[in-house]
Amino acid sequence: MSSKILYITRRAEFAASHRLKVTGWDDNANSIAFGKCANLHNHGHTYTIELTVAGTPDETTGMLMDLTELKKLIQEHIINHVDHKNLNEDVPWLQGINPTAENLCVEFWKRIQPYMPAHVRLYKIKIWETENNAAAYKGE
Ligand code: NI
Repeated sequence: MSSKILYITRRAEFAASHRLKVTGWDDNANSIAFGKCANLHNHGHTYTIELTVAGTPDETTGMLMDLTELKKLIQEHIINHVDHKNLNEDVPWLQGINPTAENLCVEFWKRIQPYMPAHVRLYKIKIWETENNAAAYKGE
């Protein structure tokens, strides 16, 4: 019986606006820390999520998980909540969280991890904020 561990990844995009800031810091300090992402009136990014699950493929199908099911889970538990939203204001479960790509990885993980099918485990969430900048989280 095979017990090889394989990984599959599904990508998804969403568009959202944000302003990065540390509450209690003045505008200058936030500007030094976050650059253009601290601009006072928000700005948008097209984010790309890469969600990777790990597990042992089914011996008959050779598949780890139905990618259409994974697509639906990402859509339902993440994209529908954040697409075309202001990440500072519009998303109840992001209230009080500075919406850096790093923090989004952790919050997205919490949202979707409980819905993973029993035979796979969530392995990694990576979020590209621009085509050159990404953050990733692999759980605790
Ligand atoms: Ni930004």
